[in-house]
Amino acid sequence: MNDRPRVLVREKIADSGVDLLRERFDVELGLDWQDGELVERIGDFDALLVRSATLVTGDLIDRADRMRVIGRAGTGVDNIDVAAATRRGIVVANAPESNTLAAAEHAMALMLALCRNVPQAYASLVGGKWERSRFGGVEVYRKTLGILGFGRIGQLVAERARGFGMEVVAYDPYVAAERYRDLGVERAEGSSDVYARADVITLHLPTTQDTRGWLDAEAFAAMRDGVRIVNCARGELIDHQALEDALRAGKVAGAALDVFPQEPITEHPLFGMDNVVVTPHLGASTVEAQDRAGVQTAEQIVAALTGGIVTNAVNIPALRPEDMEALEPFLPLSSQLGRIAVSLSEGTSIDRIEVVYEGRLSEHDTRLLTIAVLNGVLAGHTEEEVNLVNAHSLAEERGIAVAEHREPSSDFNELVRVTVASAGGEVEVAGTGFGPRHEPHLVSVYGQRFNLPISPHFAFFRYRDQPGMIGRLGTIFGERGVNIVSAAVGAEEEAADAVMAVTTDAPVPEELIAEIAGSNDFHAGRAVDL
Ligand code: NAD
Ligand code: MLT
Repeated sequence: MNDRPRVLVREKIADSGVDLLRERFDVELGLDWQDGELVERIGDFDALLVRSATLVTGDLIDRADRMRVIGRAGTGVDNIDVAAATRRGIVVANAPESNTLAAAEHAMALMLALCRNVPQAYASLVGGKWERSRFGGVEVYRKTLGILGFGRIGQLVAERARGFGMEVVAYDPYVAAERYRDLGVERAEGSSDVYARADVITLHLPTTQDTRGWLDAEAFAAMRDGVRIVNCARGELIDHQALEDALRAGKVAGAALDVFPQEPITEHPLFGMDNVVVTPHLGASTVEAQDRAGVQTAEQIVAALTGGIVTNAVNIPALRPEDMEALEPFLPLSSQLGRIAVSLSEGTSIDRIEVVYEGRLSEHDTRLLTIAVLNGVLAGHTEEEVNLVNAHSLAEERGIAVAEHREPSSDFNELVRVTVASAGGEVEVAGTGFGPRHEPHLVSVYGQRFNLPISPHFAFFRYRDQPGMIGRLGTIFGERGVNIVSAAVGAEEEAADAVMAVTTDAPVPEELIAEIAGSNDFHAGRAVDL
């Protein structure tokens, strides 16, 4: 046996990708392997290349003793246990831009097929019937397209829909306002605005904790009568029982689906309904996209196995050891500050994130900390995990400008200051690490200084500084049975409002925040859960 690295190509990719791998490695095609064979033989390979059908579970990864890289020829890495791979030091790399165009075009194809009954009319005609009156459709011209998830694919769909003369309204609070303006798209404040307006709704969200089951019975009820639904993103975004009910009730006039909660699938209550158009996960299945995905993923595998830069790695930061040592204790703080700042920001978009590193931190390559900040801001809202390699491109795709500055002088040994700017204004928060273990502390919010350990549950209030405000707040928390763990106030005169921050041992209910924020001399309140 020679010592060339061994690569397993488990799913069909373009020949050009396989050829590229064959130039340097021993390549085995396992396209028709049963799952048992994969489990049995995974330990023989240095690299694995998959599309979306292979489940790369933690158990499988645990058996992959030689594995150094897993390549995903496509976008979603939801079929790979990235955390398990990261724990074992395996790079996971994808080809996120390889198929965005193909997916956007397929969403358009589905929308048009749905509006003009193309598949139904085809089946009728080849079945021997000439039924012109049965398959009359609707035009998309001057109709409103609602887009949920205005990322790479959502934006391409918007451009194309504008070309068809559609009005477009989109909801995605993690994209800069400017991007909406550039594409002539109305920015929705929430998904309910999209439901109220749209004749056709198309989904372009990733599957995350927040987005799973997004279109449920409540969502369908809030939509316009006769709305049409297109899903070319992920099946889990829709509660399919609720969709079936809404279709049968006539609330939804039709649905076009490329993706399903379980795949592959050949039997489903929706299949065969007159007003449902389905395709078997074909969004990325164009010659061009498969070429791009195959070649890009093969390039990532070559880089990973030959010590090159894995530009689409979704899980590895790389830094000089001395920087890593100095920065590592500040990673949780940076991510928490990002999360707090974005939770306090008022707008429906994020336009700019600025991070300033003061004191000793300014001596280091702080990019990793900025990524941790971005991680806190974007976490749970992106398809890939945000890391040193992809963080800036993820922010850039969303039109979010990111800047970092270093200032040697500071009142603290180390200080991280994060500003999030949106259409609603700017929010600045700052924190540092105290003690030998650099325990994260929040030392400033809204321009007011105080000192509070960072905890899972916060509530912040802005108010007019005068005696008795702390007592009033404490009384209401007590009456509602919410236990305050620590509290701090900042009331420097130059700031417009004083700020009170409390940490609690459980999430602070929104009604409690609203009650306090709405009472005399309190101006605003916000709960933040980390
Ligand atoms: P992307 O990450 O570029 O865009 C997703 C957008 O969703 C982001 O802008 C993000 O801010 C937004 N978002 C995330 N959570 C949100 C939330 N809670 N509320 C509002 N907005 C939120 O991803 P993409 O490349 O455009 O892919 C979109 C989807 O399409 C993914 O699910 C992907 O897996 C899928 N996809 C399917 C096919 C196919 O073959 N059918 C092909 C490619 C991609
Ligand atoms: C993707 O996430 O890239 C698409 O769903 C396409 C695919 O898996 O082939």
